[in-house]
Amino acid sequence: MTEPHSASPDVVTLTQENGIALLTLNNPPVNALSTALRAGIVAALAEAAADPAIEAIVMTGAGRGFCAGADITEFGKPPREPFLPDVIAAIEAFPKPVVAAIHGPALGGGLEVALGAHARVAAPSAKMGLPEVKLGLIPGAGGTQRLPRLIGPAAAVKLIVSGEPVGGAEALKLGIVTEVAEDVVAAARALARQMIASGVAPVGLSSDAARLEAARAGRDAFEAAAAEVLKGARGAEAPAACVAAVRNSLDLDFEAGMKAERAAFLSLVAGDQSKALRHAFFAEKAAAKIDGLPADAVARPVRSVAVIGAGTMGGGIAMAFANAGYPVTLIETSAEALARGQGNIDKNYASTVARGRMSEAEKAERIARITGWLDLGAVASADLIVEAVFEDMGVKKTLMADLDRLAGPDAILATNTSYLDVNEIAAATSRPEAVVGMHFFSPANIMKLLEVVRAEKTAPDVLLAAVEVGRKLGKIPVVVGVCNGFVGNRILRAQRNDLEALLVEGASPAEVDAAWNGFGFPMGPFAMLDLAGLDISWRARKALGQTAEIADHLCEQGRFGQKTGRGFYRYEPGERKPLADSEVEDLAKAIAAREGITRRSIPAAEIVERLLYPMINEGARILEEGIAQRPGDIDVIWIFGYGFPAWRGGPMHAAGNIGLARIRDGLQARFEQSGRAEFKPAALLERLAADGGSFAG
Ligand code: 3HC
Repeated sequence: MTEPHSASPDVVTLTQENGIALLTLNNPPVNALSTALRAGIVAALAEAAADPAIEAIVMTGAGRGFCAGADITEFGKPPREPFLPDVIAAIEAFPKPVVAAIHGPALGGGLEVALGAHARVAAPSAKMGLPEVKLGLIPGAGGTQRLPRLIGPAAAVKLIVSGEPVGGAEALKLGIVTEVAEDVVAAARALARQMIASGVAPVGLSSDAARLEAARAGRDAFEAAAAEVLKGARGAEAPAACVAAVRNSLDLDFEAGMKAERAAFLSLVAGDQSKALRHAFFAEKAAAKIDGLPADAVARPVRSVAVIGAGTMGGGIAMAFANAGYPVTLIETSAEALARGQGNIDKNYASTVARGRMSEAEKAERIARITGWLDLGAVASADLIVEAVFEDMGVKKTLMADLDRLAGPDAILATNTSYLDVNEIAAATSRPEAVVGMHFFSPANIMKLLEVVRAEKTAPDVLLAAVEVGRKLGKIPVVVGVCNGFVGNRILRAQRNDLEALLVEGASPAEVDAAWNGFGFPMGPFAMLDLAGLDISWRARKALGQTAEIADHLCEQGRFGQKTGRGFYRYEPGERKPLADSEVEDLAKAIAAREGITRRSIPAAEIVERLLYPMINEGARILEEGIAQRPGDIDVIWIFGYGFPAWRGGPMHAAGNIGLARIRDGLQARFEQSGRAEFKPAALLERLAADGGSFAG
């Protein structure tokens, strides 16, 4: 029998059954630890303490999870009591057993609450982790002190610096929970009953001397793990702060460790990096929202998919669908091309298996979802057809007209073009309303970004379907309008506006790349061009009637980058390490001599400005033209598709930190010096800079 027990605030309820209280966090949608929820927990604990009939507490979350952590919307406001570390201390100090029953997300402060309990039970669905690092933070409510005591400092530092959650089974293996059960609350009750029966007073992690000793014994493993996880930090502050905090758990007593953790957390929360990452978190959610659709629009159903073209893109796209459970028909024109494509898919999955990330059975299951076909007529049964053929308007239009003839009447025709006019492609069919762009990024089975291109006539149910399918693939779909290159590649082109001038004026490709790496990008523009293939941008330039003297010259010599062993750099056979090539420098020198330019050493800061400001300017034009719905969408595209350092928040957010007036002045000076229209500050940038405003509004 369950009897209501509580008059505490609605966000926390306390009920009691046979001596065991059920404390439920109930703050929809994700039980974020708002001030009200924190106060509710304290009140419920006091109430339970005062009730002699209560012998133990089981803590659970209402709805779809345990607790998603601190309320991110409260960051940046003055902290209000009760503070989360104190709430968790109160849970831990509760004199009777407290057991956390975890289903769904237990993230950040949510996991820290569970670590305050005396025992934890998880459902298989549990998603337990400390993702604070992704918000530019360290866990700020004891996670860096209690988790190392629970699972050892090496495992703790890996979990904390990756920010990635683990499921119930993995949590059991790590020792975060002692049991995995479908009915977590029942299992937690049973455990609580055992703890009561044992008669042993519960011991919190903060005062468990044996665990601390065991953790200290793991110091060497911790230092090795810490060095490993810091390798990918690239300018982000939070990973090193996480490592330092975990190290404190070994070096300091609990109180001192907590004090240091809190101080580091508060300093990070007020800093630019965390603000940028919080912006990215909310921008990613906002990007899913599509303006201007009828309220009653629903997505056209997609159950089966056909992919045309089994090249690198088509194969990756087929894998992305197969991974998400869709049956895929993969269509090629020749048996050789199909066999090659399927062979690549097989190899790709095999390497995932070899790295221990997939079982043989899963591999077989996914491959079985992909059926190869040589006849375009096989599209007849597909709800969604994605073409990934050669990037040429004529080829795409002919194919689309064929698909229009052969596809079912309700089929969606998607093009994976990366810069062509989707309106023109749609006009080649009798159903332009069913045509949408789905611009995947290579490798398509891995990259998170999906640009969903809304053409003039794309119907709402088709647009919604493309976005919904994107989400089911685990991607971040961002809706963009039609223009050459859409949002991502158009800004990429702007990033390259000044590249050749930098070489002519005296920078080497390696210096430019190093400056961009220093800004936080994993790869510099020249290394990226060489990797992607110089012929690709050459073709795109030719289509636009544009030239780039150095790159064009390299292409004319058959220097297409890594694949030909030479591009802006040269490569030893079979190697990927870029090596300086004197021919490129000689070419730059010759142009400088011809133009009367005195070459000089160019500081990294200037290089970064000359790459970044044109990107921001192009972003402003994209906003003026309504190609992107909001500045945050541009940021999301650049963070997830192009490696923009997330801790800088994307180009449009970063612009706010630099100052729009400074960017305008930099562009204006470059415009006057070069006479090139692409550097002219966009009207929106001019206006916002004059008003002292920012893109965010
Ligand atoms: N605070 C405030 N709002 C949050 C939130 C949080 N911690 N987590 C999610 N939300 C909001 C979302 O913004 C969204 O709002 P909207 O409907 O208005 O757009 C709504 O809750 C639902 O979220 P999702 O759409 O993301 O729902 P999903 O079911 O897809 O995902 C989730 C749920 C896995 C919990 C995901 O939202 C998530 O990862 N949240 C962030 C978790 C996190 O980073 N926690 C750490 C916070 S920092 C911390 O705890 C500090 C501590 O150490 C002191």
